[in-house]
Amino acid sequence: MTEVTLFLREYAKSRRDVGAIAPSSSRLCRALTRYMIPNPGRSRAVLEVGPGTGAVTRYITGSLGGQDTLDLIEANPRFATLLRHTYADDPRLRIRTGLIQEHELGSYDTIVCGLPFANFDARTTEDIFDRLLGALRPGGTLSFFGYVGGETLRRTLADGDDRERTLAGLGVLRRILRRHTFRTETVLGNLPPARVHHLAPISAPAQPERVGACDCGKPSP
Ligand SMILES: C[S@@+](CC[C@H](N)C(=O)[O-])C[C@H]1O[C@@H](n2cnc3c(N)ncnc32)[C@H](O)[C@@H]1O
Repeated sequence: MTEVTLFLREYAKSRRDVGAIAPSSSRLCRALTRYMIPNPGRSRAVLEVGPGTGAVTRYITGSLGGQDTLDLIEANPRFATLLRHTYADDPRLRIRTGLIQEHELGSYDTIVCGLPFANFDARTTEDIFDRLLGALRPGGTLSFFGYVGGETLRRTLADGDDRERTLAGLGVLRRILRRHTFRTETVLGNLPPARVHHLAPISAPAQPERVGACDCGKPSP
């Protein structure tokens, strides 16, 4: 079975989890791996979440150094089996089956994420971003994508309880994007066209130094 056939078959079984009708195009893969910047003299740790049949994984491994490591976490057992076959001889890769929410994460320089967030509820989206942003080393980046027009489509098609759930999920996603995005790029050469978001953690604002601070205005004990 070809990679595309396997992808389509799994999509037909579970649209919400797979979230795409075809693997990412080469342009989308390039954009998603843009911040995998080599760091001479230091090994890099990379995490890919939702690698599917491995379209983006090929790009990541293509620029992985001998001492670098790549963790893959994939919910779909058939995709995970395919990846284990493909990378059986590469000791830099560790493939874990299951939901990202169920795994303990290490710390990473780069995280590339293929999850279909437009299909997730607010709590799931928030939980996953907390984990991913929290797993980044200082200076690390998280890149993920959504489809152009995907949000509008979800908003239009959802009704009843599903509409509430969708709107809440999209609201959380928008808030996370506003807070953490340092670059967004549109990739027209993908089916459908996609938007890639590059995020970085925001450190808590430092406490202002209290020079000559007084207790003015503080309620007395
Ligand atoms: C849109 S596909 C992306 C596949 C691949 N990265 C690509 O770009 O072609 C989403 C993938 O995420 C996986 N997935 C969905 N929810 C997940 C979760 N909570 N944890 C890990 N993987 C998940 C699906 O099984 C699917 O392989």
